[in-house]
Amino acid sequence: MEHDARVTRAWVLHPDITGADQRREASFALEEAVSLAAALPELDVVGSNTVRLARPHPGMLFGSGKIEELKQLFHDNEVELVLIDGPVSPVQQRNLEKAWKVKLLDRTGLILEIFSDRARTREGVLQVEMAALSYQRTRLVRAWTHLERQRGGLGFVGGPGETQIEADRRAIDDQLVRLRRQLSKVVKTRELHRKARAKVPFPIVALVGYTNAGKSTLFNRVTGADVMAKDMLFATLDPTMRAVELPSGPEVILSDTVGFISDLPTELVAAFRATLEEVLAADLILHVRDIAHPETDIQAEDVHDILNSLGVGSGTPMIEVWNKVDLLDEDRQDAMRTRAGRDDTIFAVSAITGEGLDDLFTAIAASLDAERSEETVDLDFSQGKQRAWLFKEGVVEEETQDANGFHLRVKWTARQARKFETL
Ligand code: GTP
Repeated sequence: MEHDARVTRAWVLHPDITGADQRREASFALEEAVSLAAALPELDVVGSNTVRLARPHPGMLFGSGKIEELKQLFHDNEVELVLIDGPVSPVQQRNLEKAWKVKLLDRTGLILEIFSDRARTREGVLQVEMAALSYQRTRLVRAWTHLERQRGGLGFVGGPGETQIEADRRAIDDQLVRLRRQLSKVVKTRELHRKARAKVPFPIVALVGYTNAGKSTLFNRVTGADVMAKDMLFATLDPTMRAVELPSGPEVILSDTVGFISDLPTELVAAFRATLEEVLAADLILHVRDIAHPETDIQAEDVHDILNSLGVGSGTPMIEVWNKVDLLDEDRQDAMRTRAGRDDTIFAVSAITGEGLDDLFTAIAASLDAERSEETVDLDFSQGKQRAWLFKEGVVEEETQDANGFHLRVKWTARQARKFETL
């Protein structure tokens, strides 16, 4: 059978380990893993399946009968790469690659590939490189332990010797130090950019949500911007910000963020967090949910957990956007609308058809307005800079002047009040 030499024929396996994560159904986990793989353009996913496991075998992950069965399956389908949706130890990887005569990638490896494919800002690229190096380093360490145990046998054939591995580890460490130094510079520059942006006189609205929930689609719908919106997970790794005027009046900065995902490998948490700092500075968070997804509640829980771990607590107001209502049947659509109608922080919409968006925009405007509090600020004549800032932010309602200085009645958001304190 002939096939395109530029694409790699891949097969996705989801090990369904009895007693492991029982929250998610294996078939949805497999579906998500296939979507992840499909996010890499050079892969052609030719098949996928779930493998039930009572417990993982230390050396081979699967039992010998299963390994033979899969070997035949991969052979028949001319599979070149097997993606295993879970952790695979370096020893297991080596053994399985040998048994199946394929390349193998585990879940961390796959997400790393996607992150590196999608990273757009300098910081994103550096964070992903660091994560990849740390990942490689632990694999070298473990591979080395494995080789040590095999001393005196035939174990070295084809594998690098101890000295080579030590040298590789040192090279990785040096590289990590260099990257960390570059990263701290980039973070400083970004801090400056953020300060510059903080001067923009609009409130910031951040879109967050589980991967594939429809954030980019909504963002594009609102801004008319051409941020990649495809059926690709992680289409947005780095936050994208744009000033938009909502149909209901106010101008806001809308910020799109990378999609959340469950069981994010620990090596990737820093890279992921770097993309979410914008959320911390937001005046309002829009939590976009794929309400048609069977596990939408579990996804929402994951998003809340991640936001909490980032320190985005009850301080920032949040609106839930129940997206993709167009995919539900009539009865469920009605049920969703009724539920949303009872709660003024929930809106059922479709980013594709545009349904429900007007109400959402009105609510955003109302929420931002409600968040503004009125205060009187007294400035003396030396505080011209502060006074100019208040006017630039557009928060001044009224100003009087006497011998002591200026007295301004301002209406501002908590973010603007905090910002003012730092001037
Ligand atoms: P990540 O970048 O992975 O975080 O995804 P995202 O949340 O930005 O999702 P994206 O906007 O890329 O949309 C994912 C898929 O859902 C795309 O195929 C969209 O066309 C589709 N989609 C988004 N909104 C809707 C909707 O309201 N209805 C339907 N039917 N499909 C939608």
